[in-house]
Amino acid sequence: MKIIILAGGGGTRLFPLSRTCMPKQFLKLGDDHSLLAQTVKRFLPLVKATDIVIVTNQDYLHHVKAELAACGTREAHILLEPEAKNTAPAIALAVRFCLDELGVTNDEVLFVSPADHIIEPVDVFIQSVRRAVELAGQGQLVTFGVKPTKPETGYGYIQAGEPFQAGYKVQSFREKPDRKTAEAYLAAGNYYWNSGMFAFTAGCMLEELERYQPEIFTLVSKPFAEVKNNFAAMPSISIDYAVAEKSARVLTVPLAAEWNDIGSWDAIYDVLPKDTEGNAIKGDCIPIDCNNTLMMGRSRLIAGIGLENLLVVETDDVIVVAKRGESQKVKDVVTELKRCG
Ligand code: GDD
Ligand code: MG
Repeated sequence: MKIIILAGGGGTRLFPLSRTCMPKQFLKLGDDHSLLAQTVKRFLPLVKATDIVIVTNQDYLHHVKAELAACGTREAHILLEPEAKNTAPAIALAVRFCLDELGVTNDEVLFVSPADHIIEPVDVFIQSVRRAVELAGQGQLVTFGVKPTKPETGYGYIQAGEPFQAGYKVQSFREKPDRKTAEAYLAAGNYYWNSGMFAFTAGCMLEELERYQPEIFTLVSKPFAEVKNNFAAMPSISIDYAVAEKSARVLTVPLAAEWNDIGSWDAIYDVLPKDTEGNAIKGDCIPIDCNNTLMMGRSRLIAGIGLENLLVVETDDVIVVAKRGESQKVKDVVTELKRCG
């Protein structure tokens, strides 16, 4: 088995802390190690460092090397994609790399993991991984389902069908539905959030790409060096839209461990410890008569008076103040900044 860790995403939802030059997977959240280092360590009870492939791009190479050094796993492979084309081409390239450069066979299981989550406890997680790997070995495309707690629109939704061994057959997979649809899924009770992890054999992924993404399949059917050289021709699409929404052989294993995508300042507020007034404070801050507020300072003192349900994040050049529950809109700030150049 090989572990493929996707660490090439740009990440804008945690602006201003996460930027194009410092996306979420390299931030230290919930631990002294970055989310990428936490991800690598999570798989070490299961595989050797040399069985881990980190897929990223040149811009993030120095971050990846530093994080691997920090967790003592310099021997892990770093696969550089010529440009970011979203997760389907990144996974396709990694599959070709494993087949051509690491001697993986078509029947061997590959386990894809994002690099931007907190999952605990690790031993419980590993049990779920073992179940998924067994199912993937039978030629299925296995996802991990997380019980949804709110109508989040930033996730994929998995409709669980009839039980199948340690998991469920997936009746439908819908990536990032609108709010109304997400609310209906939540009410229906038989939907899971997609955790973003996938297990499959190399052969299974190639077959599904051939069926649903012939353009990617044609490009990835060449030898590794050629796939890399022609990478610019790949369509930009995530694996969720490209394959998971379309495939008829998707299973899901409910993830037993706690999972947090921490994809927003609201989610960071949720994971941080709170004082008796429900404030989550990091850095130099003085909260006076504040309730249920996040204050995160980096270089300057934050003094808050009478704040309620706010998110205050300060960095060297940007201060963001947002109402709790609205932090998904931080990406609109980034869009606006890009528009204004
Ligand atoms: N190498 C590489 N290249 N990695 C990438 C690229 C790319 O072009 N784009 C994204 N990634 C990495 C990110 O760094 C992250 O670790 C992972 O792939 C997932 O990408 P995100 O951009 O974070 O996806 P998402 O959060 O919007 O959605 C996915 O995850 C959700 C759970 O967090 C989907 O799988 C959803 O269905 C899922 O619910
Ligand atoms: Mg993500």
